Amino acid sequence: MSKQIQKLSEKLILDGLKSNGVECGVQVFSEIDSTNLEAKRQATAVHNTPMLFVADSQTAGRGRMGRQFYSPDSTGLYMSYMYTPDCGFSDSVTVTAAAAVAVARAIKRLTDLEPEIKWVNDIYIGGKKVCGILTEAVTGKDVKIIIGIGINITTQSFPKEIEGIADSLKISVDRNYLAACIVKELQMLISELSERTFIEEYRRLSCVLGRDVTFIKNGEERYGKAVDIDRDGGLVVQTADGSITLNTGEISLKVRK
Ligand code: BTN
Repeated sequence: MSKQIQKLSEKLILDGLKSNGVECGVQVFSEIDSTNLEAKRQATAVHNTPMLFVADSQTAGRGRMGRQFYSPDSTGLYMSYMYTPDCGFSDSVTVTAAAAVAVARAIKRLTDLEPEIKWVNDIYIGGKKVCGILTEAVTGKDVKIIIGIGINITTQSFPKEIEGIADSLKISVDRNYLAACIVKELQMLISELSERTFIEEYRRLSCVLGRDVTFIKNGEERYGKAVDIDRDGGLVVQTADGSITLNTGEISLKVRK
């Protein structure tokens, strides 16, 4: 198994986008605080196309729930896709769910791996997290949506807090082409977002449906069985007190005894 990783290149990403028939501006950074933050800084600049910001490493990679996203040099793909939505901001859970399907599709297209989605924003392979997604919105004169995606490609060791949970693809994949393929899938899914065409695929890719889960609701730990993904990407959980649909927050999979 090769641990070689290809150098990031604006030209190669643009070539990949072109061969997929996609229009998108690209900026590549060797090191940056966070590609999501860079997208926010440029949210009011004039861009005539959607924009992709990609970095070799992040010094302050942002995760959900105020966490950090570990982003060591040249072992992952850290990217943020910024676009102007057609009709305001769809629910963040819906955009994030669509983005998870886009990443899973691109990984399947370029590798033999079998990605799964852990609601709502994590891509798992072999029971471990290889990718996280953070969707943010900038509101103002124009609304901008920023979809931040971090994929561990060859990362071999992780900080203590995520050891045992995080993993990487562990294969040599062309990062430039992977970035281009993800943008292609994102653009396709976003253009059909209102039809929710991706929800059935999301359900099929889910590693959560049918499983016992724990979650926090109103500060209280709750338990239940994940039974469905609703048409907006919300997770329907059957609890002892009835059914609850989660649209924010996160769940843990209960360890089966
Ligand atoms: C999560 O797992 O909680 C979400 C992680 C999202 C990480 C990506 S890496 C590229 C982009 N820039 C960031 O600062 N975060 C996202």
